[in-house]
Order: sequence, then C-alpha cells, then structure tokens
Amino acid sequence: MSLNMQSVLKQSLERHFDLFAEHVHPQWLRVLRTIGFDRVYTRAEGPYLFDDQNRRYLDFMSGWGLFNFGRNHPDIKQALSDIIASDFPGWIAFDTPALASVLARELTRRTPNGLEKVYFCNSGTEGVEAAIKFARVTTGKERIIHLKKAFHGLTTGALSVNGDDSFRAGFGSLLPSAEVPLNDLDALERALAVGDAAAFIFEPIQGKGVLIPQEGYLRGAQELCRKAGALLICDEVQTGMGRTGKFFGFEWEEGLDPDIIVLSKALSGGYVPVGAVISRTSIYNKVFSSMERSMVHATTFSMGNLAMTAGLASLETLKDYNLLEKAELLGRQFRDGLEAMKPRFEFIKDIRQRGLMIGIEFGEPRAFDLKAGWTLTHGLDKNLFTQAVTIPLFDDHRILTQVAGHNIDVLKLLPPLIIGEEDIRYFLGAFEQCMIRLHKFPGPVWEIARKLGKYAVTASR
Ligand SMILES: Cc1ncc(COP(=O)(O)O)c(C=O)c1O
Repeated sequence: MSLNMQSVLKQSLERHFDLFAEHVHPQWLRVLRTIGFDRVYTRAEGPYLFDDQNRRYLDFMSGWGLFNFGRNHPDIKQALSDIIASDFPGWIAFDTPALASVLARELTRRTPNGLEKVYFCNSGTEGVEAAIKFARVTTGKERIIHLKKAFHGLTTGALSVNGDDSFRAGFGSLLPSAEVPLNDLDALERALAVGDAAAFIFEPIQGKGVLIPQEGYLRGAQELCRKAGALLICDEVQTGMGRTGKFFGFEWEEGLDPDIIVLSKALSGGYVPVGAVISRTSIYNKVFSSMERSMVHATTFSMGNLAMTAGLASLETLKDYNLLEKAELLGRQFRDGLEAMKPRFEFIKDIRQRGLMIGIEFGEPRAFDLKAGWTLTHGLDKNLFTQAVTIPLFDDHRILTQVAGHNIDVLKLLPPLIIGEEDIRYFLGAFEQCMIRLHKFPGPVWEIARKLGKYAVTASR
C-alpha cells in the first residue's frame, strides 16, 4: 500500500490550519483563533494531550464528555487490536451479529429496571431519533415534551426537543414538541393534559448549565407521564457510563423507571462511535411488530464489530478500575476544594457536582469595582465572563475546560474518570490563581475579556 500514515500526518501538520480552513470548517478555526485555542496536538495519553512543542495539557473537556477512560486506554486498544486481528466478519446484514448480542446482554444487566431490548446506532443524536420514533409508534401520539435548556443532539428530530432557540434558528419547522421549565411539575402536567404527548425526554443532569433536577422532580414527572400514557425517555448520552459515579445518572433518584434509555459517548471507549437505545420489550414489539416491519428502523453501520468491541471493553474497564467508586470519590475532592474557595471569591455563586460532572456557576459580586467588571463583560457578550476563566486556565495552566452553554455563567468540568488526585490538586491551584486575578479589577484578565468582547460585538454586526 502506498498510503503511509506517518507521512500523511507529517504532511498534514505542515498545512494544519490552512487545510482545515480550506476544506472543512473555516468558521470554527476563527472561533479557536479568537479565544487562543488554536494549538496543534500530536499525541494523547490518559487525561493528557501533547502539542507539537511537546507541551502537556490536562483535558477536562473529554471531547464533550466522551473520554471517560481517558485517551488511548491500553485495555480498550488491545481489545480492538484483537478483534481486527481475528478477521471476524461483520456487517453481513443477513445474520445475527454475535458481539451485538453479548453487548446488549451486558447493557440490559446494568439497567436496574430490567429493560430487555437494545437497538444499536452510531451516535447520541441518532439514538434520540430512534427513541422519538419508538415513542411515537408505541403511543400513537406525536408530541415530545422536553425541558428548557435541554440538549439531545442536532439532527432534525433531536433538534425538535432542544431547549435553546439559538440551535433551532434558521432550520425551519421541526417535529411537534413542547417545552417545560425544569422542576415545574405543574407545567409538565399542563403540557401532558393536552393529550397528544408521546413522551417526556430528560437528561438526569442537564449538560447545558450542569443543572441537577430537584429531588423528587423526575419521580413526579414519571408519575404524571404514566397517568397520561406518555413514555419516559432518559437521555444518558453524557451522564451514563459512570460519569456521575453511578452507571446511569438517573440512579441518583430512587424509584425512577424510564421506558427508554439512550446511551452513547463513553460507550465508544474513546475509539469507535456507537449509540445504544435500551427499551422495554413491549416497545420493541410495537416498533418491529411483524416480519414485514423487521427493518422499519435500521442503519447500515449498526452493530459493527469494532463498535461492539469498544462497548464491551469500556464496560470491562469501568469494572476493572473501579471507576464508579473513583468518580464519586474524586468528585467529592473537587467539591471540597471548590467549596473551600467559595467564601474567598465573590464571583463563585454555586458549585454543582455529581461524580465527575461538575459545574461552577458565577454570579454578580457585591463589591463595587468587581460589579463594574461583571456589568462590562455582560454588556459586551453574555458568554464572556466564563471565557475570562477558561482562557487563562488554558493559556497559563494548559487546562482545557468549557463554558456550559450559550449565555450561561457556568464553567463545566468533565475530566476523565481515570485522573489522579494530583490532577485535581493541579486544577484547584490553577483555578484559585484565576480567581485571585479576576478579583482584581481592572487587571490583565479583564483586559483579555474586554478585547474578546469588542471582537464579539464587531463579529455579530
Ligand atoms: C445529553 C446529550 N444527548 C445527546 C447528545 C448528542 O450526541 P451526539 O453528539 O453523539 O450526536 C449529546 C451531545 O453532547 C448530549 O450531551
């Protein structure tokens, strides 16, 4: 073969940004350049990325939450190498893929409420599409109720249940849906009373803003749905696979018994895209109700050997390295460290954490000069304040973090579950430094924010 991957990588590095801008996504490159995140990464190991100058970065974004096991986990890599080396046949289409059966059995063993059937797809949004279709055919109703600020993916069906208008703008009419505020059972009851709802879809912790439902809200929602004949779809795309310290995020609330669970992201092991829609047999029987309908919902790449192997190896890794317990323990260390800082820093308003899904919310301070800084940045751009935290974390400390959504003053941390205590200490030290500098107004950090804000205002014109 004339293709030599080493030389492809070497050549691509020579025109790294230009090639991307020419042929992939120039606007995204503009974003990266504006916030100074335009680095060239050449190697990755566990929670660390290394750039072309061999500088090490601590990755607390985990690729939007998919690297629960860190990057290039040796056990997952080995399992994938083994299945490739075996020449085991896949995607025969007219057969019953063996690895899919084993992974489905393993997943259903982990659902506390005994959901028995698994439909495999290739991403979170594709899983949500399937869940919407399954709910519609099962109930004979069309509308899906979702929460404000919900995020379930960006294909057309999933976009219909997105709780942020900025994602929907410009894409025309979508599926019938209804939005209700989080923690408001009366609003949900009113939406269900219309009588046309096929399902209520929720994230156990909302990724946008890291919002944790009040205890009892989801149980109440379940009761209302059961009464109204609507299904309960639990989107575990981000919260599943141990992210919150339990296998599924919904296990934090007792008595929850969703009808459909969607899993993706970390099930990939950080290697092979995969999605899984776990549902009751009664739902399966409605969708695939006859032999004629046995292909009524399907996709070419479903149940691929590499994806199934990545899923099996991910489940094993979670168990072998006690990652559920570890996520809970390490999460508490983050919380304790951040709580200890809170009285010293007026900008820290709230800390929300379950396992290693962590949100730090900032709020308007009391001190007059700091208030001026807050007002200035929010006047320029509502996302700016938290960028004034992510940028120095990245620039000065080489820690990759993210703002938890549009117009939200929340810094979000999704570290891999395999991080060490020294990584937490490093983050806490770096975050403290950023807070000390932000609590001096005016100052260099504010200068960055002001410049960025000016740019945002010009760009939006
Ligand atoms: C809760 C949730 N659901 C669905 C999705 C969509 O998944 P994907 O990006 O794989 O389409 C995401 C992605 O971030 C998510 O966080």
